[in-house]
Amino acid sequence: MQTDRESTVFSVIRDRRSIRNYADRDVPGDVLQSIIAAGIEAPTAMGLQPWRFVVVKDRDLMQRVSDYCRPILAEIVSSAGGPGSEEFLAVLRSPEFNLFHNAPVLVLVLSAKEAQSGIIDCALCAENMMLAAWALGIGSCWIGSATIVEKNPDLLAELKVPGDYRIVAPLVFGYPATLPPKPARREPVITWIP
Ligand SMILES: Cc1cc2nc3c(=O)[nH]c(=O)nc-3n(C[C@H](O)[C@H](O)[C@H](O)COP(=O)(O)O)c2cc1C
Repeated sequence: MQTDRESTVFSVIRDRRSIRNYADRDVPGDVLQSIIAAGIEAPTAMGLQPWRFVVVKDRDLMQRVSDYCRPILAEIVSSAGGPGSEEFLAVLRSPEFNLFHNAPVLVLVLSAKEAQSGIIDCALCAENMMLAAWALGIGSCWIGSATIVEKNPDLLAELKVPGDYRIVAPLVFGYPATLPPKPARREPVITWIP
């Protein structure tokens, strides 16, 4: 029999979606604090907790990061080619495209560069944050392409990323304006022994 706790955890995991269309409504600071509090409950290798967080509500800075990353991303997509690349390039090149999907807030999950498992630790933290946000009615999207900003020292300084930290998870949060359909999951390949 499923307990209430099990059914809540499973439904949040199952129903969370990457949101790319946000309502014009701010996420309050205390809610962001709760989301980060859920993030830092994640397990970490050797209990190192190698993270720091940057909360960006400055839409102008987000736009400038988007404008910087966009052509570099287009270049990467164009040289990689493959299925769907032409459609994606068309979206990337449209003037209204914003890397952050016009979300009201960006949270950078940073890892200390010296932490050996920092990328794994911060990815676990990021997933906790996205699930906690969903449980609070807030959508999120991991914007991996925003790590391109690490090539730009000036923007990195504006984002207050210390030199001994790297950006692992650029996460946007906001109240969903619309919910997308769930992308189908492939059947897991499971080897049972015995
Ligand atoms: C490491 C990583 C990088 C991602 N980068 C982007 C991105 O740059 N832009 C974006 O819109 N979505 C990005 N996503 C979201 C995925 O596209 C999304 O999780 C996937 O399509 C499955 O959809 P779902 O999250 O709704 O289940 C990223 C997700 C991960 C885990």
